[in-house]
Amino acid sequence: MTGTGAFAPDDASRPIGVFDSGVGGLSILRALRAELPQEDFVYIADSGHAPYGERDTAHVVTRSRAITHHLRKQYSVKALVVACNTATAAAIDLLRHENPGLPMVGVEPALKPAAAITRTKRIGVIATRSTLSSARFDALLRSVEREAEFVCQPCDGLAEAIEISIHQQDAIELIAMCARYTVAMGQFGSQTGQMDALVLGCTHYPFVEEHLRDLVGPDVALLSTGGPVARQTRRLLQSHAKLKASGLGHFRLGTTGQRELLGTAALNWLAWRGDVEALAVPS
Ligand code: DGL
Repeated sequence: MTGTGAFAPDDASRPIGVFDSGVGGLSILRALRAELPQEDFVYIADSGHAPYGERDTAHVVTRSRAITHHLRKQYSVKALVVACNTATAAAIDLLRHENPGLPMVGVEPALKPAAAITRTKRIGVIATRSTLSSARFDALLRSVEREAEFVCQPCDGLAEAIEISIHQQDAIELIAMCARYTVAMGQFGSQTGQMDALVLGCTHYPFVEEHLRDLVGPDVALLSTGGPVARQTRRLLQSHAKLKASGLGHFRLGTTGQRELLGTAALNWLAWRGDVEALAVPS
């Protein structure tokens, strides 16, 4: 816990729960902090049970339910942000059903924003295998497939490599992996037949945005979802009269995996210093 100690008990003063399979959701937390600086957040990285993206749906659903239960019971969260495309695709309908009073925001690959800006009408999508094979993604794709052609690439191992890279100095392997996947998708650029937009459909991927930018070139739009998710969270809190009016919010970070890893990632990406809590969240 940083800052003030216990959270105040009244509704609007309670924290917002955020979770991901690991450090990726910090990309969403960064946007949430920018949009809602007065709010307190509790972030859980389920690194002890990650990656989610290449596991079966039952595992992701079980873990999402366990983390949600933990956030409600231990921290009395007033809202939940599922900062993981894979968990959103697999579990958000069930989580909403099981937690009817809890305002909830999920993340989904930015296919619609990409369709709105593409000129070449060819769009690349990178995400986990689990997200791309989900019924939820299939429905999303069908809703926009008349507007453009989507080239979807599962990136096995990329989220895990991003986690590992936090403790490593050189990014050579990470860059090689990004290169392998983007090359497999085809040509990027602004010419006819090329993909002029790349959707980052996993919350880990904004942390390799620089490498992806180098690989696809300056003319390609890279789309992630932090900003829209943060704005949706604000709208939802407002409509439930749960928006905190003033003050400066604090973070509380916990992990089911290595504390140092989440601490280093939070320092690098959020300039956050504090004690990461070691959590046991049984399934
Ligand atoms: N960050 C998660 C997502 O947005 C996936 C990472 C994983 O495979 O665990 O899908």
